[in-house]
Amino acid sequence: MNRKYNVAVVGAGLVGKKMVEILLERNFPIASLKILATRQRQEIIAGRNFSVEETTPGSFKDVHLALFAGTEGEKGASKTFARQAVAGGTLVIDNGSDFRMEPDVPLVVPEVNKETLQQHHGLIANPNCSTIQMVMVLAPLEQAFGLKRVIVSTYQAVSGTGREAVEELQNQIQAYCSGRTAARRVYPHPIAFNVFPHIGSLSEEFPGYYTEEVKMIRETRKIMNLPDLPISATCVRVPVFNGHCESLTVELKKPATAEAARQVLREAPGVSVLDAPEKGVYPVPVEISGKDDVFVGRIRSNPAFESGLDIWVAADNIRKGAALNAVQIAEELLRQNLL
Ligand SMILES: NC(=O)c1ccc[n+]([C@@H]2O[C@H](COP(=O)([O-])OP(=O)(O)OC[C@H]3O[C@@H](n4cnc5c(N)ncnc54)[C@H](OP(=O)(O)O)[C@@H]3O)[C@@H](O)[C@H]2O)c1
Repeated sequence: MNRKYNVAVVGAGLVGKKMVEILLERNFPIASLKILATRQRQEIIAGRNFSVEETTPGSFKDVHLALFAGTEGEKGASKTFARQAVAGGTLVIDNGSDFRMEPDVPLVVPEVNKETLQQHHGLIANPNCSTIQMVMVLAPLEQAFGLKRVIVSTYQAVSGTGREAVEELQNQIQAYCSGRTAARRVYPHPIAFNVFPHIGSLSEEFPGYYTEEVKMIRETRKIMNLPDLPISATCVRVPVFNGHCESLTVELKKPATAEAARQVLREAPGVSVLDAPEKGVYPVPVEISGKDDVFVGRIRSNPAFESGLDIWVAADNIRKGAALNAVQIAEELLRQNLL
């Protein structure tokens, strides 16, 4: 019962640092905590000074649990070290997209599909940030009314791209305001005072879609165990520092009033309803940033469908969209005696 664990966090960027902060905040039973990145240095996290070590294959010796939040892709931390760490006995929760769709890897949002953790083989994936906040809303609606189809447009903050993107927005705002031309490195267009429907790279599997949109489609189907759910996504980057928003339209199998949906969402774990449009009350990024819940508002019947609803969804993409969800998976593993 009182066991403590040797924990490693891989990545000391926006998500890695937030993971450390949340592990401490929620009193995860830690015996030792290692922070790993590409190079050794000191970092202040949650007001405390931590030594960051360079990640090597030997870094995972005697580590019970590793939360990976390094860059995705070929040279990223997960592809380089995760499978090896698992082979050495470390349980890995990976935050990136490298393993999410592999059949032997549970893709988990604890409020939605925690039972799939029972089938883990040492590697568990944390879904994409936009997917997490959407399934937190879709799952209770599916349970109460059944889902026929889903259409979503996102408004995604720059923190979702990592710390370089946050710096790019800061620098471009300063440059524009002082009449200079802003340099652009991270994004395909200027992000200050602009929006663009382009997140990720063009997909081969879904012609015309970018990969972030495909992640939302495929990951949602996997998490909700609805492999044929008709779903379409348009993902848009907006000049917001933190907090993703989504305009979600659902067509339901059983008709439901907006108030019935509101009641279902009020009772859903991890979801908060902020819905008083007559007073201008609905969730906005500057208010929900730093909070754990997924917030919903503007819940209304959609006249374009026989039984449709429109819902505005907002969440802190670094907390529930990434670090918090990963820590909640770890907590759930403890509850289910799987760690
Ligand atoms: N931001 C979000 O909202 C969000 C949501 C869901 C998922 N994710 C995913 O979470 C991951 C981290 O995102 P982030 O926003 O924290 O990015 P970030 O701020 O750019 O930080 C990336 C971190 O990864 C480390 N890293 C890169 N390659 C590495 C390697 N080969 N070995 C060890 N460490 C390595 C970097 O080390 P150095 O510090 O030494 O450079 C850095 O600390 C990404 O895969 C991202 O797609 C992010």
